[in-house]
Amino acid sequence: MCGIVGYIGNQDAGGILLTGLSNLEYRGYDSAGIALQNADGVHVFKEKGRIAALRKIVDPDVHATLGIGHTRWATHGEPNRRNAHPHQSASGRFTIVHNGVIDNYNLLKKQYLTGVAFHSDTDTEVIVQLIEHFVNDGMGVEEALRKTLKRAEGSYAIALLDRENDDTLYVAKNKSPLLIGLGDGFNVVASDATAMIQQTKQYVELMDEEIVALTRDGYTIKDLDGHRKTRSPYTVSFDARDTEKGAYPHYMLKEIDEQPAVLRRLLQKYEDKNGTLAIDPAIARAISEADRLYIVACGTSYHAGLVGKELIERIAQVPTEVHISSEFSYNTPLLSKNPLFIFISQSGETADSRSVLVKVKKMGHPTLTLTNVEGSTLCREADYKMLLHAGPEIAVASTKAYTAQIAVLAFIAIAAAEKKKIKLDFDPIHELSLVAQAMERMIDQKALLKEIARRYLSVTRNAFYIGRGIDYYVCQEAALKLKEVSYIQAEGFAGGELKHGTIALIEDGTPVLAFATQENVNNSIRSNVQEVSTRGAYTCIISMEGVTDKPGDQIVLPKVHRFLTPLVCAIPLQLIAYYAALQNECDVDKPRNLAKSVTVE
Ligand code: G6P
Repeated sequence: MCGIVGYIGNQDAGGILLTGLSNLEYRGYDSAGIALQNADGVHVFKEKGRIAALRKIVDPDVHATLGIGHTRWATHGEPNRRNAHPHQSASGRFTIVHNGVIDNYNLLKKQYLTGVAFHSDTDTEVIVQLIEHFVNDGMGVEEALRKTLKRAEGSYAIALLDRENDDTLYVAKNKSPLLIGLGDGFNVVASDATAMIQQTKQYVELMDEEIVALTRDGYTIKDLDGHRKTRSPYTVSFDARDTEKGAYPHYMLKEIDEQPAVLRRLLQKYEDKNGTLAIDPAIARAISEADRLYIVACGTSYHAGLVGKELIERIAQVPTEVHISSEFSYNTPLLSKNPLFIFISQSGETADSRSVLVKVKKMGHPTLTLTNVEGSTLCREADYKMLLHAGPEIAVASTKAYTAQIAVLAFIAIAAAEKKKIKLDFDPIHELSLVAQAMERMIDQKALLKEIARRYLSVTRNAFYIGRGIDYYVCQEAALKLKEVSYIQAEGFAGGELKHGTIALIEDGTPVLAFATQENVNNSIRSNVQEVSTRGAYTCIISMEGVTDKPGDQIVLPKVHRFLTPLVCAIPLQLIAYYAALQNECDVDKPRNLAKSVTVE
């Protein structure tokens, strides 16, 4: 949800900022802009649309060693050039980029800024105008910044240029993510480490309500009262190569293909010396002390949570609920006596999930975050963390993080079962290794999956996925993936539920794709397929070799343990969505209206 970069050093800032913004483009792509500061002043370039459009209008003759940049996912104000960041104060002295939402911007405008001419409809412009207002009142820049931020309610990650000071880049954050990156003779600012990975692997996390004055060779962190803070940098575990597409046409395809390797990496990371799966003993203890687990997540992570519930309840017999973060805050369920909260978030920055985390922490409940991004807000603020080790996920539609989340949830279920001395009827490492092989076999069937997308989804505006039990949860993710990237209206239904209303939508040629991987419901789901087929639906069955398959099934998945089928189903559902998106000529990696990291509530 908007991405920010900044650079102060000795090299040409323009190119560095544009590369940084391209790396961050998955956070928003409505408009983009950069500001470059040199002895002649501050030069602002901004454009509606993608970074590619911005690149075309940046004047190559403007050279600067200090600058800031922004890629936008619009909240306040239409996504046009006028509302694109950076924004400037009335005199042009201050220039700002901002990620977040200032809730009381109208109030601040009325209270302090009557008579000031505004040039955009954004909440952001109020901050930069207010800083100038306080400076005009005689305050120093840092003091004016602190005073402004003390009055701003909401979320912000900002980077600020002062035309009268070529040696300092100011940054600040509250709720929205922001890092500073350290180099030799230069320093950078970024919404996340992937943005500036070409520049440095050394980063310093910022906490809420902190302000940093960044120079070419140092940085000072202070709180909003001006007290100094110290914090050591950390080194990120990936490098620039991990964020590149290589020979792939799209990140989504690359990330789908990476899933067997991610699963094998996870098995290595969570295997102990005795060759068994092990999780942090403190986490295993926290789970065993809980009388109920509450999984809280959004989007694809929520769908992984649904599968996780099934695994934890079936394997470890621990009651588990799954909640959508944005609903949980006000639609809070009655909680058990000793709950443990599990937050699932690829980015670790999703604002809705974070607001639940803050709330349940205040209530004194223990919290665990499953995330792909070490050092992210949800990772830092929870009592316990488990990493997904999926490597940077760049495509907006989540793929490898989804399967990594399910795998880690399976580890939790297995560890909880062991702690409760429940004997497993399978060898987890062996079965998960078979899953990795099965995923590979499905990845090798791209031609078939492309053909299925052509046959079933090339002329349709809508489609249904149906399944029962754990397959139903898979269907929800299958429908979301298809909607997200191909814009085909898709729904995931419990097989038995379709006839209670939705079957009215089935007409000649409506595509209905059924997951049938579970032996105990195989006959029932096939009956549901029959019901829609008789009413004209164009049906496709995705079954499992030696368990549920029948002659004529369109896709037959390699056999894996009945609890682990969602990991294999993920591959066809993702590839079908991918090829449907290509058919519809959609922008696969950056679907319209979406952003990967949703940092506003
Ligand atoms: C956005 C992304 C989805 C993602 C969801 C939750 O909507 O487009 O792909 O599943 O956020 O994100 P999180 O980082 O918390 O998993």
